[in-house]
Amino acid sequence: MKGLILSGGKGTRLRPLTYTSAKQLVPVANKPVLFFGIESIVEAGITEIGIIVGETKDEIRAAVGDGSRFGAQVTYIEQDEPRGLAHAVMIAEEFMDGDSFVMYLGDNLIAGGIKDLVEEFQGLQAEGCSAQILLAEVPNPQQFGVAELSDDGETVSALVEKPPEPRSNLALVGVYMFDNRIFESVNTIKPSARGELEITDAIQDLIDRGLKVHPHKVRGWWKDTGKLEDMLEANRITLEAMNFTRGPGKVNGSTIEGRVHLAEGAELVNSLVRGPAIIGEGVRLENAFVGPYTSIGDGCTLVGCEIENSIVLANSELRDIPQRVDGSLIGRNVRIVKSGAKPKAYRFMVGDNSEVGLP
Ligand code: TTP
Repeated sequence: MKGLILSGGKGTRLRPLTYTSAKQLVPVANKPVLFFGIESIVEAGITEIGIIVGETKDEIRAAVGDGSRFGAQVTYIEQDEPRGLAHAVMIAEEFMDGDSFVMYLGDNLIAGGIKDLVEEFQGLQAEGCSAQILLAEVPNPQQFGVAELSDDGETVSALVEKPPEPRSNLALVGVYMFDNRIFESVNTIKPSARGELEITDAIQDLIDRGLKVHPHKVRGWWKDTGKLEDMLEANRITLEAMNFTRGPGKVNGSTIEGRVHLAEGAELVNSLVRGPAIIGEGVRLENAFVGPYTSIGDGCTLVGCEIENSIVLANSELRDIPQRVDGSLIGRNVRIVKSGAKPKAYRFMVGDNSEVGLP
């Protein structure tokens, strides 16, 4: 089998971060979301991976390289516009060269990896099954692609994209497995009302052709990290689940509570870090409190401030902030500092589509 990771798209829901950076490279526990996907595909024994890239292709290439650091061989497949998940499959036909594959949305995280699922699909294929989809029970199926199952629950009987009146609460999770019969489907379907080639339509076409699509209900958590709240939750769950080592950072007269990792060159002065939390390389904390579920990226400086339940990307600076920062996603090279300038006022230089919450 081969792997196909979708890492194109526009990431409109994570603007302004995604104006300057690919959403799949936003980190969770200081590691790009995309890397979790690559690692779980490799862990499932799949090393030939195609990555669909769009306008952020240079950045994705720079981060992932040829895949050797993951033990994989990566081929980049360029998509001119985000024309839909089924379009991404369509343009990967040559790369797949007749093989079956697992398709993984590059902004998704799934607990426990996909090794068992890939093995399960390989067994099902021997019985003629053409695809396996992952499903999770959700409280708001109206916002997802939703599956209806046969009476015995063994096959998918229909798929509907964002149904106003859903007939089940089973939403499609961002990992799919297909054999090469999917290519006929993606070449048959027409763009939807929103102008995209929908993967739900392609899978429905498999069903309409009488082919078996197997549903697998996921038991653990999964997250589509497309929105701020989802990123923060993914960060919380990942930090909670991680096996931490204390790391080489220096603790000078500071206190560490709970599970905390201090990367190389990190330095704490008169500060308190309460885990689970991860502090990146070269970070300086001075008179600071970093509370649970926080990831501080490499090269950040935090002086005279308190932060928790947040993600801070590399090389940002937070200085003398009078209130605790909570539930925040702070980009790269951001400065949030108390200036002391007169008149006493909030001073912002904030990008388009930013959001600032004041107490
Ligand atoms: P989405 O989250 O559905 O789309 P998006 O990236 O455009 O985000 P937003 O809704 O915030 O604008 O995409 C899921 C994943 O698939 C994501 O990693 C981007 C990728 N993708 C492609 O590579 N090509 C595509 O044509 C589409 C639609 C998505």
